[in-house]
Amino acid sequence: MGGTSAEREVSLRSGRAVARALERRGLDVVRLELDSARQSLRALSEARLDVAFLALHGRLGEDGCVQGVLEMLGVPYTGSSVLGSALAMDKAKAKEMFLLHNVPTPAYYVFEGEATGDAVVEGHGNFGFPVMVKPMHEGSSVGLQKVLNADELVSALRIAQSYDPSVLVERFVSGREITVAILNGKVLGCLEIAPSNGIFDYQAKYQSTQTQYFIPPRLAESRCCGAMQLALQAAKSLGVSGAVRVDLIVSDEQNEYVLEVNTQPGMTQSSLLPKIAEAAGLSFAELCEEIVQSACLHVSQSRQIKEAAVVPLARVAQTELAASGQ
Ligand SMILES: Nc1ncnc2c1ncn2[C@@H]1O[C@H](COP(=O)(O)OP(=O)(O)O)[C@@H](O)[C@H]1O
Ligand SMILES: [Mg+2]
Repeated sequence: MGGTSAEREVSLRSGRAVARALERRGLDVVRLELDSARQSLRALSEARLDVAFLALHGRLGEDGCVQGVLEMLGVPYTGSSVLGSALAMDKAKAKEMFLLHNVPTPAYYVFEGEATGDAVVEGHGNFGFPVMVKPMHEGSSVGLQKVLNADELVSALRIAQSYDPSVLVERFVSGREITVAILNGKVLGCLEIAPSNGIFDYQAKYQSTQTQYFIPPRLAESRCCGAMQLALQAAKSLGVSGAVRVDLIVSDEQNEYVLEVNTQPGMTQSSLLPKIAEAAGLSFAELCEEIVQSACLHVSQSRQIKEAAVVPLARVAQTELAASGQ
């Protein structure tokens, strides 16, 4: 838990809640608080872990970096592989994968370089407004803004660039916001988020008492089924695993759009995925234990399988020569 990303505080809350729940289930828990990259490397390699329950959000923790370290240390970890984590964390790469797999997602472009008035107007062209501006590699709505015109766009891009030089500009979709919880490839259910100002920003997520949640969502059952099916398709397109949460918008015209796949969803008792699990009959402690059970190595394991199946190159060459009659 912890880490150096903008979501450190949220991660600490997730980590502490998970640790308490697992201890109550009788597991032997070591709380590892990660700080700088160097300290994290030392802490992870010195701790004698059977399994790492990752309660990290944001950069270095959710994007495949810690996952890579654990692969090298041979410590099974919860959540997605290095590749799945990295793809999901990069908002543009994730959208490219959605489009390749026919998962509808709002239209977008990527803005990089200096956000001068001219560069912004030229880059935006006739894309139109309103748009959402998002730093490429942040979560928890950090640096995210809704923008109504070109003047606002310049300042929104500059703010987003203080988090990340690369920024996603996405068409705003008006509708109902749904989040779908998936555990080990199976949909647990979904929930509607109704933030008081229409955007589920950092304040609406962690500070506001005005945000409303509806289980089931205030949508026709067929729409919910459609959203859950699409969420599963989005998760598959990135090859993620373990506990994941997919954010979608069902537009006023009743079309579904996937916003993003979260590979390390918030894990306090009042976080969205635990809320959905609870409604599906899975208590917070049971959910945490299921996640621990699914911990694994992705790369190291597949390497073992491949090694067993390796045929020495010389033999392959000979067999091919024999087969071609030479
Ligand atoms: N294209 C969009 N149209 C309408 N609302 C959006 C759009 N993109 C994001 N939002 C709002 O902003 C919130 C955060 O966006 P999201 O892409 O999920 O990023 P984060 O990783 O910060 O959670 C969403 O939960 C939603 O309320
Ligand atoms: Mg989100």
